[in-house]
Amino acid sequence: MKGRFCCSQAAPHGSGEVRLPAIFRFRPYAPVMQALQSVPLPAPRARGGLPLTDALERRRSTREYSYRPLPAQVLSDLLWAAFGINRPNGDRTAPYWRHVMVLDIYLAMPDGVWLYEPVTHTLVPHLQSDIRKETGTQDFVSSAPLEVIYVAHGERMTDVSPEDRRLYASVDSAFIGENIYLFCASENLGTVFRGSVDHAAVARLLKLPNEQFVTFAQTVGYPK
Ligand SMILES: Cc1cc2nc3c(=O)[nH]c(=O)nc-3n(C[C@H](O)[C@H](O)[C@H](O)COP(=O)(O)O)c2cc1C
Repeated sequence: MKGRFCCSQAAPHGSGEVRLPAIFRFRPYAPVMQALQSVPLPAPRARGGLPLTDALERRRSTREYSYRPLPAQVLSDLLWAAFGINRPNGDRTAPYWRHVMVLDIYLAMPDGVWLYEPVTHTLVPHLQSDIRKETGTQDFVSSAPLEVIYVAHGERMTDVSPEDRRLYASVDSAFIGENIYLFCASENLGTVFRGSVDHAAVARLLKLPNEQFVTFAQTVGYPK
């Protein structure tokens, strides 16, 4: 599975070496927006971690973060755990509504906003500005290195009311959010799933088309 779906520039999993794209060799995520190039993530480790029950025992929300950045490998593993591809047919680590791929995961980080592309396990540059602070109303939001933003494609949810679109997209987001909670518990990271988001303002900042909408956000970082 990994060989098929992971980006070709990352060393194959199990080779003993993760060959990072140049931007990761110097800083976990240096600015590359000028080049507008997608950045392949290191191959996700996709194994190991705490036993599930231990992770469940540790799962909690964190609201105090250090500024410490996330290493590229940790970001890769986190995104795979969140909504990566875990089967040869392309299905994901989280269940999703009617087998319709409705959600995009945007990552607001100090160097800008990226879109996670699970098929190639790549970060696609989206915006050059740091919008972390604008993704929430609580003080800790701007201190953590990563704000995940869940965005739904309403236009892909046919035959359901606008209320149900929001309902099902929210459930999709929550499953991914719980994956992130458990991954963070396993990796000694902090996280909190957040509804306190100015949805319209974030949608504007992300320049989303009208039919797309923000459901939730989720802070991730090392606890203070
Ligand atoms: C739908 C939803 C929305 C939430 N929104 C926020 C939020 O905006 N800000 C926040 O600090 N926590 C938020 N939380 C986290 C909850 O406050 C937290 O899960 C709850 O207090 C239980 O604490 P625990 O996660 O540590 O067990 C949200 C949780 C859920 C499920």
